[in-house]
Amino acid sequence: MENPSDTQLPPFDLVLFGGTGDLSLRKLLPALYFRHHEAQLPEQGRIICAARSSHSTEEFVAIMEEAAKKYIKPEEFHPDTWSTFCQRVLYVKVDITVQEDYLALAEVLGSYPDRVRVFYLSTAPGLFSRICSGVNEAGLVTENSRVALEKPLGRDLKSALDINDELAEVFNEKQIYRIDHYLGKETVQNLMALRFGNSLFEPLWRREHIRDVQITIAESLGVEGRAGYYDQTGALRDMVQNHLLQLLVILTMEPPISINPDCVRDEKIKVLRSLKPIIGKDVTKNTVRGQYKTGSINGKSIASYRDADGVPPESNTETYVAIKAEIESWRWKGVPFFLRTGKSMPEKRTEIIINFKSAPHSIFETPDSTNRLVIRLQPEEIIKLQIFAKGRGDAMRLLPVNLDIDFNEAFKKRQMIAYERLLSDMIRGNQTLFNHRDEVTTAWKWIDPIIEGWAEYDVPSQQYTAGTWGPPAASALIARDDCGWAEEYSDAE
Ligand code: BG6
Repeated sequence: MENPSDTQLPPFDLVLFGGTGDLSLRKLLPALYFRHHEAQLPEQGRIICAARSSHSTEEFVAIMEEAAKKYIKPEEFHPDTWSTFCQRVLYVKVDITVQEDYLALAEVLGSYPDRVRVFYLSTAPGLFSRICSGVNEAGLVTENSRVALEKPLGRDLKSALDINDELAEVFNEKQIYRIDHYLGKETVQNLMALRFGNSLFEPLWRREHIRDVQITIAESLGVEGRAGYYDQTGALRDMVQNHLLQLLVILTMEPPISINPDCVRDEKIKVLRSLKPIIGKDVTKNTVRGQYKTGSINGKSIASYRDADGVPPESNTETYVAIKAEIESWRWKGVPFFLRTGKSMPEKRTEIIINFKSAPHSIFETPDSTNRLVIRLQPEEIIKLQIFAKGRGDAMRLLPVNLDIDFNEAFKKRQMIAYERLLSDMIRGNQTLFNHRDEVTTAWKWIDPIIEGWAEYDVPSQQYTAGTWGPPAASALIARDDCGWAEEYSDAE
């Protein structure tokens, strides 16, 4: 894949709806600042922040600067570049629900009708359709316009279809950029590089050689003031339907014939379609829901989920999910994929572990000879391949040792934040790292029966102590296949 910092972007107007919101201040504007700093933004590139409150551009820039100093590391904040960056920024007051307010936007955009125009909807999903019709009625949607949407896209298949239909009334599929910020992470793109840039792994990447796979997205943070959203959503919708399934799909898809967006998305959709449905009673067998209770992480005590502001005391919302998934294809039939994600876990860690089958016949006295490929995506980017070697000494005893790559050391360059890549790609018009409508809906088709099964069988969220790796039932789930979660391994360091 090309390196975005190598290519200048075309002239653009980027409109950030929800411009004063947390995502905009914490991630989007810093990401644009970095792209500006790396001289990727063209001279004719404007960032138009739109929100309901009344601010002059100067006032907004002051708010933006205060946030930037919080979210950009001091050594990466260059006052000179920052002040030239601020010259690109405009603030326009727009109450999304008031049609006349779009005229103010029309006035600003009107001067450059031919530029790439991106409408970035960093707002509650309930407002997506209103904004689309607002910009459309105001005559702002040109051939060169795009719309970018944050997840969640719906809360089930039906609502996702409705949102997609509403979008389609204004924008065609080539203009719609559905964001899953995990796809913007360099580490996730590196997964594709590992698989399709090296011929070494491909022959092994299949049921004949792989015993099991586990994918973990663990967060040490809890619900952090987002209870209003989170309690209605839960970990299955918040993390599994999107981020976890995206990792699974990139890990397991067939090699696309090119890196062209349609080719990549076609392969991803095929995997989603071949996920074995988890239906009815199987939901109680192949999934585990958990919810954190009071505990501690690194010596800091953590209140239970139910004690968080805005969470009802009897809430059954899951902050943890573990699932045994299966892919019904020639390549993957019979390989269990263990997926899990949780909040208030001992550490932040996103990791994929591929356990290869043991040697068919061992001539050494080694109880277990599982070669293991560990791909850690966060917080560090590391790839480790566990092999076996003869330990030093008289005995012919095999010990696990790691072949290790640390990408920070290998590349010694700042790792881009996910939104840098995504924002550049939207302006450039490259949809490879964005979800197609069919990806989102196919993912919901697999998720919906799990939600229904939980309701039908009254599946409780089992309590786990904050700072632990989830409820004991998750260990039982994986143990049924004679496997164990990573923290249960005794491995090479
Ligand atoms: C978001 C979820 O999509 O991803 C959050 O809504 C979660 O609940 C976050 O904390 C995790 O993202 P990252 O990039 O920190 O792994």
